[in-house]
Amino acid sequence: MKIITLDHPIDDRQRGQLLFEGHLLIYRQRSSMLELIDYTISMLKIELADLEPTSAQRHLNTEQFLQATGAAQTRFRTDPKARQLFFQVLRECGVKTHSCYYDHFPLRVVPFCSSHTGAHRAAIAHHRDTWGSNIHSQQNWWAPIYTLSSERTIAIYPAYWHQAIANTTESWSFEEFLAARAKSEIERQVPYPSAPSPIQTVDESDVVKLVIEPGDVLNFASAQLHASVPNTTDATRYSVEMRTVHLSDLHANRQAPNIDNAASEPMYFWFKNIESKQKLSHLS
Ligand SMILES: [Fe+2]
Repeated sequence: MKIITLDHPIDDRQRGQLLFEGHLLIYRQRSSMLELIDYTISMLKIELADLEPTSAQRHLNTEQFLQATGAAQTRFRTDPKARQLFFQVLRECGVKTHSCYYDHFPLRVVPFCSSHTGAHRAAIAHHRDTWGSNIHSQQNWWAPIYTLSSERTIAIYPAYWHQAIANTTESWSFEEFLAARAKSEIERQVPYPSAPSPIQTVDESDVVKLVIEPGDVLNFASAQLHASVPNTTDATRYSVEMRTVHLSDLHANRQAPNIDNAASEPMYFWFKNIESKQKLSHLS
């Protein structure tokens, strides 16, 4: 696995070839990403009553912090401008957005001590994003809003590119998750996992904790095993992410190897075209 830093765009074919060989791509300083960062910070400050977002937890109790960051996440998720800015980031990385499909665009929040964690505001445990979607041509995009450090970032486990890990893909059901979510009374608290997870301890010895700059964008195959690094620093982590599927990869069968996913039904309908908003189907 190589970490390839790019100051220029690359085309969809080259990107797919590199990612599905297991390499990680870092696109440096995309101007639309810098614009999106400013826009996201202004949104956070509205919901956090002008507190500095990375240290707001010092001034708010857990309930206040979870309420404010939850409101910021909802505002971000439903904001068309934020999404459009990230589509522009993808174009600046070389993505042909008319043949590219995405699922959603969340703002992640990882508090710096466990007292302020809550649903969707916590470190995410080890997983592959292809578990659940079952689309091995799927790509992940990830970008920080504020400065990172090795204890406040994303972790990738390249050894598991070729190595299986026992997991719940055989038993996990999207339908059961939807049913549990429909019955859930508290937003974001669903008593059924939102995705499959490992049932075996992950070997941390070859972990890669990527520290990129605000304005940089990380791109990796969704089949890479990854997790949030538990935030043991003194600043809250905020980051954005998107998953994409590119028609050219599907048509050329460019995809990551399936090492340990026991499910097989691709969830194409999770993805919609960036330009037309049409749902992805296997015949696209
Ligand atoms: Fe993920």
